Amino acid sequence: MIRTFSYVALSGTLLFSATAAATDDTTQQYINTLTELGYPAPKANELVHIPPTMEDLENASLHPELKRVIRRGYDLFTNTQQLRGENVFNNMNCSSCHMGEGRMPFSAPVWPAAVTLPNYRGKNDHVNNLEERIAGCFTYSMNGKPPEYGSDNMLALSAYHQWLAKGVAMYPEKPIYGRGFPAPDRPAKLSYARGEAAFEENCSVCHGNDGEGLRVGNHTVFPAIWGDMSNNWGAGIVRVFTAAGFIKNNMPLGQPNSLSDQEAWDIAYYMSNQERPQDPRYTGDVKDTLEKTQERFHKHSMYGQARETDGHVLGDHNNTGEKPFLKPDSVRPRTFE
Ligand code: HEC
Ligand code: HEC
Repeated sequence: MIRTFSYVALSGTLLFSATAAATDDTTQQYINTLTELGYPAPKANELVHIPPTMEDLENASLHPELKRVIRRGYDLFTNTQQLRGENVFNNMNCSSCHMGEGRMPFSAPVWPAAVTLPNYRGKNDHVNNLEERIAGCFTYSMNGKPPEYGSDNMLALSAYHQWLAKGVAMYPEKPIYGRGFPAPDRPAKLSYARGEAAFEENCSVCHGNDGEGLRVGNHTVFPAIWGDMSNNWGAGIVRVFTAAGFIKNNMPLGQPNSLSDQEAWDIAYYMSNQERPQDPRYTGDVKDTLEKTQERFHKHSMYGQARETDGHVLGDHNNTGEKPFLKPDSVRPRTFE
């Protein structure tokens, strides 16, 4: 069988495609392409998976109705703005952070969730399934309200995640190569001023001087990285190390790994010191909210901290952005009792 491997540049992102099941050869080529882009090679014990593409889907022997639903999930993932005002209240698509349509290593590829859940999640202190994990990104990263569990849209999104995991065994024992947004080591000192200067030099051309990005009609060209149209204070990317990992591995667009570790961290620190919509777990008081969420979540964010440049306490406001409510019903305890 002839196995081909290709990648195409799509708005600066690289899309990898293994048109046949990964062999040692295609896997090696995949790794070579990533290391040429400055990503580390996998460690000996790591699981490397090449997620199938939408082209692979067309060639797969699956029921046509399932293919239709997976295509719908893909469409929702890459154009989540179609749910604007219903489930999404900022300018994000899922693919704004999960680059390469959710398939790109070091850009929190989404398929690991399909093979590692249900599992315990510290953020909400209970066992989550795939739908609840997706709901988490709607609640915080999209500053929104997740589609109902079991709804057509939730099923379609889950099916897309599971399709990307095709061939991976459930509950893999090996650590997953390129999972999450791995951060470089934190430098001894972070500087707001250096971060601001580096942001202006490398980022504002697309994301704007106020992090507002660019929206044309109903289409997000460049997502907002802070402010009302960005993710809220409860999103994973507000942790400085997660932002540093995202930036180092993915930005500026099309030039991954081009910033030094110090630059990536300084920019992340600068970005983490700007305002955004309130954390849905807000109790009405920032200090009280911080007390209740710090241990599980805000240990690594700037939420509730005074900004060094002007003393402004970050997150000390009632602003929920465009969203006309604070807390979607997905933010609730679950006890299994
Ligand atoms: C603002 C950025 C952002 C947006 C937008 C976003 N996410 Fe995420 N997502 C994250 C971060 C950060 C993580 C956690 C990565 C980590 O583990 O460090 C994550 C994790 C995930 C995971 C778990 C991956 C794993 O390794 O288990 C899934 C699944 C997921 N997101 C799905 C979605 C879906 C679906 C959408 C759109 C509805 C979405 N995300 C939108 C930032 C985002
Ligand atoms: C050439 C344009 C361009 C440049 C320059 C650029 N970005 Fe981006 N950025 C994008 C696009 C486009 C996306 C969304 C990914 C997609 O849709 O493929 C994005 C996504 C992001 C996100 C995740 C989504 C969000 O809104 O929070 C962050 C954070 C981010 N960029 C930060 C930066 C930083 C920091 C720099 C400078 C080091 C930078 N970007 C430089 C175009 C750019």
